Amino acid sequence: MDFSIKIKDTVFPCNIVQGPLAGVSCAPFRALTLAWGNPAFSYTEMISCYTLINVSLKRQQRYIQKVPGETLCFQLSANSPKELGLATKIVTDYGADLVDLNCGCPVKKIRSKKTGSFLLSEPGKIYELIIAMKNNTNCPVSIKIRVDAKSDDHFNQDIANAVSDAGADFITVHGRHWTQGYDVNCSYDDIQFFVNALKIPVIGNGDVACVNSLRRMLATGCAGVMIGRAGVGQPWLIQQLISEMNGTPYSIPSNKIIGELFIEHILGLCDLLESEKFAIMQARTFAKYYARRIVKNHEFCLAFHQCESVAIAKELIDHYFY
Ligand SMILES: Cc1cc2nc3c(=O)[nH]c(=O)nc-3n(C[C@H](O)[C@H](O)[C@H](O)COP(=O)(O)O)c2cc1C
Repeated sequence: MDFSIKIKDTVFPCNIVQGPLAGVSCAPFRALTLAWGNPAFSYTEMISCYTLINVSLKRQQRYIQKVPGETLCFQLSANSPKELGLATKIVTDYGADLVDLNCGCPVKKIRSKKTGSFLLSEPGKIYELIIAMKNNTNCPVSIKIRVDAKSDDHFNQDIANAVSDAGADFITVHGRHWTQGYDVNCSYDDIQFFVNALKIPVIGNGDVACVNSLRRMLATGCAGVMIGRAGVGQPWLIQQLISEMNGTPYSIPSNKIIGELFIEHILGLCDLLESEKFAIMQARTFAKYYARRIVKNHEFCLAFHQCESVAIAKELIDHYFY
């Protein structure tokens, strides 16, 4: 099967990307994804343009540090074209390979700043924001959106027009309305709407975790697929999907190796955050993902949530990951 995707002038041999996950997708996570999954590219966590402009880059390593050899899309958050333009220049000078604007975040704090999914009600502003990115970088630029899902909002067509008029290089579409949680099914029809309405590549996103869900997503006609939550704790997932799509069974790492990957992730966080305490606090939030396959996963997660040091984390992982 041909898994390639062309974005602007670049042909990526693989059309699966690892998406942005706030609180997770900093460099140690992406290093594992690169080594085991080799996606087309990965995303940073969403980064506020205001912070990028006003805080020294040295103090923002958690958000901006790149992994050697990775292709990295910096995801920015802004409402002001001027701020977004400046931030786009900063990340481009820093080494961004692609630049994305978050237009899907449903969190109240983000919407109250008129950023994230709030922008979906302002297609004219999205147009200006895309232009601001394009004027400040030669990298491919994109936006990541949620969909109107037949709600009263009816914004799909207006957003498609803004994206196409402004000349974005690709778009990522998460097939849920911003008011919908993960308990609501992803709307493939809405993703297909954007595939049909636009000439640029559409990356489909939502609930892809196995070959069947990948096939379902590809059936929309999307040019690429974004993995979100399923990539956490399974850095090999993209290679597994490609292999199984080609009819070759993939041998999933043993629980012991998965435990070792979790420890590697935690040690990477200790280095990046320069704090064992913060690293462990962050690791607690994704313990459940690494523990998917172990027998006593609930018991492990309860214990791990009390964990306060790398030494204890190692003991727990040794005990439960066999
Ligand atoms: C913990 C968490 C953090 C997220 N952070 C971001 C983010 O910073 N930027 C963004 O565009 N989407 C973010 N998302 C949404 C995901 O990128 C993705 O669109 C969504 O999870 C659907 O994909 P999935 O079903 O493959 O997980 C986040 C999702 C989760 C669960």
